[in-house]
Amino acid sequence: MMWLIQEKYSRLPKENRDEEVLDNEIARPRRFNKSWTTIHLTLISIYTTVFLVVLFRVPQAAWSQKKYSPAESAARYERKTFQGGINYTSNYRGYSRPELEEAWHKIIQHTNVRVSANDLRKINRTSIRLQEGSGDYLVSLDVFHQLHCLKYVRDVIQFGTNETERLPEHLDHCLDSIRQLIMCKADVSLMTFDWREGYRKPWPNFEVAHDCRNFEEIDEWASRHHVDMFEEGMIVHPTLGNPFPADEHGHTDMSGLIPGLTMGGIITPPVV
Ligand SMILES: *[C@@H]1O[C@H](CO)[C@@H](O)[C@H](O)[C@H]1NC(C)=O
Ligand SMILES: *[C@@H]1O[C@H](CO)[C@@H](O)[C@H](O)[C@H]1NC(C)=O
Ligand SMILES: *[C@@H]1O[C@H](CO)[C@@H](O)[C@H](O)[C@H]1NC(C)=O
Repeated sequence: MMWLIQEKYSRLPKENRDEEVLDNEIARPRRFNKSWTTIHLTLISIYTTVFLVVLFRVPQAAWSQKKYSPAESAARYERKTFQGGINYTSNYRGYSRPELEEAWHKIIQHTNVRVSANDLRKINRTSIRLQEGSGDYLVSLDVFHQLHCLKYVRDVIQFGTNETERLPEHLDHCLDSIRQLIMCKADVSLMTFDWREGYRKPWPNFEVAHDCRNFEEIDEWASRHHVDMFEEGMIVHPTLGNPFPADEHGHTDMSGLIPGLTMGGIITPPVV
């Protein structure tokens, strides 16, 4: 493309400036023969086309480069219809009961995983190094953090909480994380409407087909790379030592930890 730009500009006489250039340009066509005009018009249209294609294509091409994650290839995409009906029941819905707590626990239990130094190099980040000699680092897949946030909001609605000090910030953090996730993924699947017998207003059909990651495959990857950060000596603070020292009663202070990330000892709210 560069040569096209050069071509265009090199045709302007160097000594001409401002009005002089304009006069000159207006006067010029008379001196051009027909084939010169054709060549010029062709070049201009090629230049314009190339310019427009480059303008609109390059950002798209750049964005098709997915952000690196070693778990990226772990999961296929598949078509999935959301179970959205108002009266649909599942183990994720309704009041607390053993099946519900188990279902929610299951989808965040592999939150903490290990990745290699090379993986971190590819995302230009560092993390906390595991101390068991592998040279690997502690990370979480963000999908699990997002699920934790949803579960946290759910738990506060269901159980209330004793976390008084940081509650507004924690709820705010979680709700805003979920907002950013939804806007980031910006699912544009179409939701349709129906008329319902005896119901005056349009009724949304929540059973929308989506293109989804296969969560089970991601979870399977995470389970293979899962790391128990509570294991003795697994992570050590550089100056403060063991992050989870037990007090004289054998109790570990879990405050300040993200609930749900505290695997091994998940904080499960009381069943009421
Ligand atoms: C859900 O179930 C209730 C009670 O059975 C019923 O009255 C209501 O119409 C149902 N709603 C939908 C959207 O099916
Ligand atoms: C990597 O991260 C550092 C520190 O945040 C930053 O200064 C640097 O520009 C980043 N390099 C690349 C290639 O993004
Ligand atoms: C809050 O603390 C009380 C007293 O220790 C306890 O009985 C209750 O289960 C706690 N509630 C939650 C939601 O953790």
